[in-house]
Amino acid sequence: MARLYKNIICLGIESTAHTFGCGIIDENGKIYANVKDSYVTEKGGIHPTEARLHHENVKDRVVEDALNCAGLKLKDIDLVSFSQGPGMAPCLLVGLRKAVEISKKINVPLVGVNHCIAHLEIGKLMTKARKPVLLYASGANTQVIAFESGKYRIFGETLDQGAGNFIDAFARHIGLGFPGGSKIEKIALKGSDYVELPYVVKGMDVSFSGILTNLKRKYDSGKYNLEDLCFSLQETVFAMLVEVAERAMAHCGKNELVLGGGVACNKRLQKMCSVMCKERNAKFFVPEKEFLMDNGVNIAWLGILQKGSATKQYDRLDIKPYERTDDVRVSWK
Ligand code: ATP
Ligand code: FE2
Repeated sequence: MARLYKNIICLGIESTAHTFGCGIIDENGKIYANVKDSYVTEKGGIHPTEARLHHENVKDRVVEDALNCAGLKLKDIDLVSFSQGPGMAPCLLVGLRKAVEISKKINVPLVGVNHCIAHLEIGKLMTKARKPVLLYASGANTQVIAFESGKYRIFGETLDQGAGNFIDAFARHIGLGFPGGSKIEKIALKGSDYVELPYVVKGMDVSFSGILTNLKRKYDSGKYNLEDLCFSLQETVFAMLVEVAERAMAHCGKNELVLGGGVACNKRLQKMCSVMCKERNAKFFVPEKEFLMDNGVNIAWLGILQKGSATKQYDRLDIKPYERTDDVRVSWK
């Protein structure tokens, strides 16, 4: 009987892209550990096969480190969750297999969760925002999301690549390694002369591929200074993101904005969002950097919220590399 009242502890596995992470959190939102190991390159972009190999190599150590850091044994874990998608299939499979292995070993149920919604729910937990619009700008994804009529709905999104992948592609073109976002941010701080770039907002959606081509051409021409190009990249692309986020807030009648995803670590983007919110008399929230980037606690927390869907019928669980935010049935609200 005592077990009925137990404060459930969930161990979450993240492995959608460059990061293999293991986080441990309980139902009260107490974090016990959040350990990760990310695949980085000196030069060039992320390669799915290499990212998978990276995850294979680090997965056992990351989980062990998380348990040690938490001061817990596997038997203290009541629930296991894993990132089901969206993401790169070879990487997702490593996470699924590790999660199944742990779940079987300690005979506790397992639940697969959506990576994008995990960014959103951890933002709500960390910031105490109640009914926010989420501007989620990461490597592979760029979406403006809000909960409406029983679902997390996408009000605006990229029509091609994610904001982070776009920034990484430009970084790669100029010889920087992966990830490029924080390197471009540093260079941009030294720029000040705005160079005209395409500004591509279509309704509530954005598109980056034309801007990338334009930037590469300008860089290759040798006529522009790199600092000004990076400065202009940020000013243009972040203004686009702020515009669609503001439109979604107005459309949904919401007065809270939460940031999520790795690109949201960018101080210039944060500043622009904060100015927009101030002008609208809205609240602006940014979770700590650790929870903006991919990590295991995001996944463990959504596991807690979705514990009602956890199962030991492993053949019913699979990866979902192309799952969209609005495909997910929200049963926990
Ligand atoms: P997804 O959530 O779509 O699976 P991801 O796995 O690539 O994406 P994140 O860890 O959320 O996930 O974000 C990584 C991205 O964030 C990279 O593209 C990186 O360049 C970008 N990024 C990190 N820091 C900054 C920064 N300071 N400015 C801009 N971009 C940044
Ligand atoms: Fe992510």
